Amino acid sequence: MKIFVTGGAGYIGSICVEEMLNQGHEIVVFDNLTEGHRLAVDPRAKLIEGELREPASIAGALRAEKPDAVMHFAANALVGESMTNPSKYFLNNVYGGVNLLDGMVAAGVKKLVFSSTCATFGMPEEVPIHEGLPQRPINPYGESKLMFEKVLRWYDELHALRSVSLRYFNAAGASEQFGEDHRIETHLIPNVLKVALGQKPHVEIFGTDYPTPDGTCIRDYIHIIDLAQAHILALGREESAFYNLGTGGGNSVAEVVEVCRRVTGHEIPVVAKSRRPGDPPRLIAASQKIKKELGWEPRFQSLDKIIENAWAWHQRHPGGYGD
Ligand code: UFG
Repeated sequence: MKIFVTGGAGYIGSICVEEMLNQGHEIVVFDNLTEGHRLAVDPRAKLIEGELREPASIAGALRAEKPDAVMHFAANALVGESMTNPSKYFLNNVYGGVNLLDGMVAAGVKKLVFSSTCATFGMPEEVPIHEGLPQRPINPYGESKLMFEKVLRWYDELHALRSVSLRYFNAAGASEQFGEDHRIETHLIPNVLKVALGQKPHVEIFGTDYPTPDGTCIRDYIHIIDLAQAHILALGREESAFYNLGTGGGNSVAEVVEVCRRVTGHEIPVVAKSRRPGDPPRLIAASQKIKKELGWEPRFQSLDKIIENAWAWHQRHPGGYGD
């Protein structure tokens, strides 16, 4: 298939592009390179530098390329920033997304896989989080992704545009070639690995008094390659659907640091800090639905493997992509 990938120069997009190329698909990446990196685009893919907030830019690219399907990764994804600059999130993640859908309708492209997030659930009523739980985001980032999920429902009904929304839990790890390099790094694992690389003196642990066994937050870390496989399976689905996407297992912040110590052989000092606003204590996916309906199975269930792969990439790219 010919797949048009928005945000294909970002962390998750770049590795999905690589996996799809490995499976023989033809790929066009559409990215404005504000968050993404030119060097993160697999050389086998075509790169179009374009802007989702300009309707003519995205519509023109879709009309020219006529892809079979679109994967939509392009978004702003920092929870904290969304609390101080909500308009950026609603403009880029909702308005930009609607421009993409209108461009698809005009070009006759009828299939989309969308990067959604467990942040659409806010503080979940129960864990593991299944698709039937209410979605009540607690920040503009999660709200913007939920708004777009709702927009998708109407484009399905009114334009027969079929979509699969994948609500990721915590994407982590790396492929041989591509890895995680955010210009502002807030995520746990890359920040811990920066300490192991000697680029930061210590890791800050945000909250040690949560109602969890060791007092630190628990997250469901899913290997980026498993996440990419879920996208490829989603391409084969005919009807629109929503899936929660995690391994169903959970690791605390303290456990992540401990595994990083073991994998890197570095001491990794930690400093306990107060809680980060908006962090739920436990986020774990119920992933039965995607396993049953798409036949998805995670290959990397161990956090050790995820961190080994991330560490190998960071050692090879201590300055990230260097831009
Ligand atoms: N944490 C630390 N120290 C750090 C960084 C993070 O203790 O230096 C803690 C956080 O407080 C949290 C856990 O590590 O308890 C994981 O934090 P991340 O920032 O790595 O990821 P989040 O769980 O906050 O991820 C959330 C949503 C995702 C969403 C992402 C957006 O779960 O769906 O924010 O960046 F995509």
